[in-house]
Amino acid sequence: MQVEEILMAMTLPEKIGQLNLINPGGQTLTGSVANDDIERKLLGGEIGMMFGTASLESRIEIQRLCVERTRLKIPMLFASDVIHGYRTALPLPLALSCSWDIGLVQQAAALSAVEARADGIDLTFAPMVDICRDPRWGRVAEGLGESPFLASQMTAAMVHGFQGDGVEDHPDQIDRMLACVKHFAGYGAADGGREYASVQMGPHEMHATHLPPFKAAIDAGVAALMPGFHCLDRIPVTLHRGLLIDVLRRRWQFGGAVISDYTAIAELVDHAIGDENTVTAAAINAGVDVDMVSEFFVQHVQSALAKGLVQQQTIDDACRRVLSLKKRAGLLDDPFRYLNRKRASAIIGCEKHRGQARRIAAECCVLLKNDATGDGRPPLPLHFNASEKNNGTLPFRLALIGPFGEDRRNLAGTWSVSANPEDNVSLLDGLKQWAEQSETAVQIGTAVGSQIVDDAQQAERLNVFGETVTIDETPAGQMIDRAVALAAQSDLVLLAVGEAKEHAGECSSRTDPSIPMCQRRLIDAIAQTGRPTVLIVFAGRPLILTDVADRVDSILYAWYGGVMMGPAIVDVLTGAVNPSARLTMSFPRRVGQIPVHHDALPTGRPIKGAAEFEKFKSCYLDLPNSPLFPFGFGLSYGQVRYDAPVAKQVGDQVEVVVTVTNLSDRVTTEVVQCYATPPPGPTSAPTLMLVAHQKIQLEPGMQQRVTLAIRPRDVTLPVGERIADVEMIHRPGRYRFGVGSHSGSLQWAEMQWQ
Ligand code: GLC
Repeated sequence: MQVEEILMAMTLPEKIGQLNLINPGGQTLTGSVANDDIERKLLGGEIGMMFGTASLESRIEIQRLCVERTRLKIPMLFASDVIHGYRTALPLPLALSCSWDIGLVQQAAALSAVEARADGIDLTFAPMVDICRDPRWGRVAEGLGESPFLASQMTAAMVHGFQGDGVEDHPDQIDRMLACVKHFAGYGAADGGREYASVQMGPHEMHATHLPPFKAAIDAGVAALMPGFHCLDRIPVTLHRGLLIDVLRRRWQFGGAVISDYTAIAELVDHAIGDENTVTAAAINAGVDVDMVSEFFVQHVQSALAKGLVQQQTIDDACRRVLSLKKRAGLLDDPFRYLNRKRASAIIGCEKHRGQARRIAAECCVLLKNDATGDGRPPLPLHFNASEKNNGTLPFRLALIGPFGEDRRNLAGTWSVSANPEDNVSLLDGLKQWAEQSETAVQIGTAVGSQIVDDAQQAERLNVFGETVTIDETPAGQMIDRAVALAAQSDLVLLAVGEAKEHAGECSSRTDPSIPMCQRRLIDAIAQTGRPTVLIVFAGRPLILTDVADRVDSILYAWYGGVMMGPAIVDVLTGAVNPSARLTMSFPRRVGQIPVHHDALPTGRPIKGAAEFEKFKSCYLDLPNSPLFPFGFGLSYGQVRYDAPVAKQVGDQVEVVVTVTNLSDRVTTEVVQCYATPPPGPTSAPTLMLVAHQKIQLEPGMQQRVTLAIRPRDVTLPVGERIADVEMIHRPGRYRFGVGSHSGSLQWAEMQWQ
């Protein structure tokens, strides 16, 4: 069947039915309501797409009903939130972005697609590409960090990973699925980092910071797009004509489907835009094609047409885009091609994928600190010479302390609706596996030491999707005393702390994004033992570490790394994997600094150099402007030296050349980063813009001449007045290019770029 011939045969209710996306409530609910009366609506042609379905079996049954018992036999399209892995949970997208490895990001998306499509999922509501500089907002976990440049590169990689080069082009693309980029646009700039709050933003900031990843997704061929829940400058983006028509359809020529967010059309009434009829007409006239869960389209579009509030062409165009999705997904050719029990059982959660998940997770762990201790060496990579202890008769005594040492329930992180916590391998599991094959005898002692949170109300809120936080009845003092006693008799303490999986994610904003106080008391108590301590942080966002950073010798930020997070952390701890991840979000010193990010504008009174305070300059009385850990920061096991960079124009591009030398006696990995300071122009511009990067591996003592190519389109700035007409233009003039290992440690070259 072809799209146009189906469209010709459809009645008006059938066309509107294709615009209805419902959630039957079989899986973890990702919104406040589910839809009911499914079979009647389905057989009546009132449902075009579904998500949140319970299982492959349920999808097979639904598809059978569609193709056997509806009038036109139009197949159902099944969607799901495949955000970071499917059954084999992978690191959170924010963690994945810290790999600075575009190829790895694409591999992760492709792995997700292989499993999801094997389970009959045709479209994922991903990638989520909201730029955010505010760790109070829980959905930073799903994003790709603060840099529009880096996020755009990774967005394109994810779209290619999910979609391949066209599901319908190659039958062997059976392991690909359609992608839906979200949440268009500016959702990550909510007031106060509070979920669903309003966004105050002008057209320059929107085009310079928040739109680039969406444009990258569309240039990569993304099949669908989802507007956010929020208001942008008092206009709900679900009906924002400037964004959805002027930018998306007219300028970007996006031909894919626009799918509303969960009940977002109904919520336009709560936004006080008007009654159900008014908001329905406004949404479909703004270019929203699919109504997720509200069912306002099926209830009100036909009457809106009769009243002249909606044109027939609008309905036909929306229906055509939904049918085109189904065509592109291969469903019109063979509705059951992707509903294959045999493939599902062979592929989903297989050992090969678990092995890949382990390797990916290790690439996402950021080493933030690793200071020398009493023996003159930093604690990591783990090193011990038991022979120093009574001729090797005594084992190396490792203490694993903290509420995340043995935890499995949280490891997949938020937005892991298709994962099974039983699949997760804990840090303790990983340590035991390693200790069993270690040449030196290792004795592992464990103590939980503290709750994740000690407040019952917080625990209840964190357990909305199932219990992952349990409050132990043991008195806090007793838990700490037991942990301190273990630490005191150990050679090294691994302190596994952080936030639970649902501390981050949707509707998980925190006014104080720091390690819960009960855990900080444990950290302080362990610090007083004086034992070498490695803090391992489990989190879905940058946490405020200012109060703990000086209490420990090493900090490994493990984020939520998915199903194989435990062994992946151990691979980094032991040096089997040299940590190479670098931060893609700045870590604030205090909440009061938020938003703090590398690409801030200079202001008219910029504070110069390393000064922390200067009257009548843009600064704080009580803190430096700089973050605790800057964008691009991360350590590896090894030291490198950067020689001064040289920049020259080659054609219309710039080439920045730098020599990097490995000063250490081990192979090391370095993420060479290049930032630009553009010349003056009609709009103020950031003093630092990431414009190029390259991940290199250096043998001991070796050096490499790295050439970073920068195109005019990599360094553009907004010019224009309205959101509909702002252009991103390359500005000729005198540029400074800073090269180094992170945004706070750069060497500069200057040149004229015409
Ligand atoms: C949620 C989220 C969106 C998700 C959708 C379906 O509320 O905002 O990201 O894809 O609903 O679960």
